[in-house]
Amino acid sequence: MQKGGVGEKMLKFLFRVVRFLRKCIFSVLSVGPVPAHIAFIMDGNRRYARQHNLKEGAGHDAGFLALMSIVIYACELGIKYVTVYAFSIDNFRRRPEEVECIMNLMLEKIELMCRKDSIVNRHGVRIHFSGNLELLREPMRDAAKKLMAVTANNSNALLTLCVAYTSTNEIIQAIQKSCEEKWVENQEPRRVGRGPINLLEIEKQMDMAIAPDPDIVVRTSGENRLSNFLLWQSARSYLFSTLALWPDISFWHLVWIVLNFQRNQSRVEKKNKQV
Ligand SMILES: *[C@@H]1O[C@H](CO)[C@@H](O)[C@H](O)[C@H]1NC(C)=O
Ligand SMILES: *[C@@H]1O[C@H](CO)[C@@H](O)[C@H](O)[C@H]1NC(C)=O
Repeated sequence: MQKGGVGEKMLKFLFRVVRFLRKCIFSVLSVGPVPAHIAFIMDGNRRYARQHNLKEGAGHDAGFLALMSIVIYACELGIKYVTVYAFSIDNFRRRPEEVECIMNLMLEKIELMCRKDSIVNRHGVRIHFSGNLELLREPMRDAAKKLMAVTANNSNALLTLCVAYTSTNEIIQAIQKSCEEKWVENQEPRRVGRGPINLLEIEKQMDMAIAPDPDIVVRTSGENRLSNFLLWQSARSYLFSTLALWPDISFWHLVWIVLNFQRNQSRVEKKNKQV
């Protein structure tokens, strides 16, 4: 009993030291421009499982832990928005057993995050789902809605989970909604200034209108494609690709990504001044 107590105290002390060191590094980073929004294409869960001789689900479990760590670091660094590509509409074409397995795991994680003492609630992180939730089975859709409601008052950061998402689907839905709205508007008699749909009207209808455009889009696992993720919003984003598999993504990766972004940002600013 006594021994366990000492061990636990030691561990807590170590945790505090690590957090303090992290804070020091983050305060150095904060001297440069801190991105407001980072988006991740979380690639490599399956490869991680294969590399470690684990079942496929274990790769996704590790990926979820990595996501929670990144969210904590983002809060500490003052990054207000984190967006992740969790499940693409194209992923529905994978083997049915695999889709089923991923959905069950996701449902489990969503329920975990709903708890009062979950990491997202303890750090004041609000959750938003972006994507065509109608494509999900009912229990999953209900859980997603519940998680959004439960975290609605959290205001430290916003984590957007793109599920049943593709950028083209988001764009088409936004255009359809703006057309419908325009049609209703134009039914009103004596309306002045009716014109074609403009950019702002479409952007307002996007799922991602909840966050500013991402400053950085990161893809893990050595891939270099956007794969239909935030095509509209990433027009001016800094794209970053790392060889690390998503479950291996760590504090140091985040520091390195932000440093690269900052270096590039100052170059872009200098270039703009010269023009
Ligand atoms: C959020 O805040 C509103 C208004 O203060 C309150 O009515 C609502 O119950 C809160 N929701 C949660 C999940 O705490
Ligand atoms: C940063 O931006 C400049 C121009 O804006 C570009 O030429 C350069 O390759 C970029 N550097 C990195 C590391 O991405």
